[in-house]
Amino acid sequence: MIRIEDIKFDKDYYDILIRFLNKVTGLELRYYKRRHIEKRIKSRMIRVNCYRLESYYKYIIETPNEIKKFLTSFNINYSTFFRNWEVYEKLEDMFLKIVNHNKRDILSDLRPNPERQYVKKIKSNPKKKYISPLKLQNKISLEKFIKQSSLFQKARSPQSFKRTINIWSCPCANGEEPYSIAIIVDNLKNQIPQFPEFRIIGSDIDENAIKRAKIGIYNEESTKNVSKYIEKKYFSKKQEGFGFNYILNEKIKDKIEIYNEDVMKKHQTSLIYDIIFCRYLLIYVNRHERKRFLKILESRLNIGGLLFLGKTETILSSQSSLKLVDSLNRIYMKIG
Ligand SMILES: C[S@@+](CC[C@H](N)C(=O)[O-])C[C@H]1O[C@@H](n2cnc3c(N)ncnc32)[C@H](O)[C@@H]1O
Repeated sequence: MIRIEDIKFDKDYYDILIRFLNKVTGLELRYYKRRHIEKRIKSRMIRVNCYRLESYYKYIIETPNEIKKFLTSFNINYSTFFRNWEVYEKLEDMFLKIVNHNKRDILSDLRPNPERQYVKKIKSNPKKKYISPLKLQNKISLEKFIKQSSLFQKARSPQSFKRTINIWSCPCANGEEPYSIAIIVDNLKNQIPQFPEFRIIGSDIDENAIKRAKIGIYNEESTKNVSKYIEKKYFSKKQEGFGFNYILNEKIKDKIEIYNEDVMKKHQTSLIYDIIFCRYLLIYVNRHERKRFLKILESRLNIGGLLFLGKTETILSSQSSLKLVDSLNRIYMKIG
């Protein structure tokens, strides 16, 4: 059995392999961190018993199916509905604020109760060690900034044509993220008549992930944060082997537009967004390309628009018009 640390990379073959993969798949490996690329190549090499990069290169050329397998392992599509659910709770709070409603007046219940209690514990006793003291110290509250958000301005605008709020989930993987947003919006819209219109877009570079997003059938892992209330309202459950499949209702599937695209190359709408979710992509991108990614996202945001990053992701806001407005949930606002 080969161990990952036994594999040696020959620089010449590394470059040849990268060029080959780019030529046959169009995948721009130059965007990503070398560490991420190496890890993925090594994990395939272990699978197919190749000790040396030269033999893996030969193997990938001679075994057409291997390219597909490499791509699947490279594009890590892991996602879940309501992943890092505190962020969705924040989003829901914001939506309620822009229409001047209180949570207790509505029936929304996104997650199982034990997790809600966990949130309460943090709020009522901040000294508990759930969050590091440093994070608490740096905590800037989005509440202070909400009135400056384009979301708030649009929702309060008397002109109805200005009221559509645009949201982009990029990358959306298999659709869990944009569908989670659509569920929150739909759930609130059913209960609050003056709720504004939303347009929700999801995009991803991975063709197969996009196909899965369009099909809208999920397993138990990707629906693990979905409460019974949401499950009943938006999914039908079907026994599959020893487990279950969760089939998303057509009603929710119709609420999002999904595109297969490389965010660095093009975007198939001319929309400028009020909210962009860009979670768990930047962690794979190298420092140089990260700046280009962020410039693209920044140019697609309205003044007062919000950028949601993943829990472990951060940007140096001194370099851009994006200012951190919620350090716990990694939310940035574009300041004019
Ligand atoms: C870990 S998933 C993140 C999904 C979702 N945002 C979440 O947080 O659950 C990362 C996704 O980034 C996509 N991706 C990688 N490079 C991309 C690019 N240049 N343009 C668009 N999507 C990309 C991958 O295909 C993969 O589906």
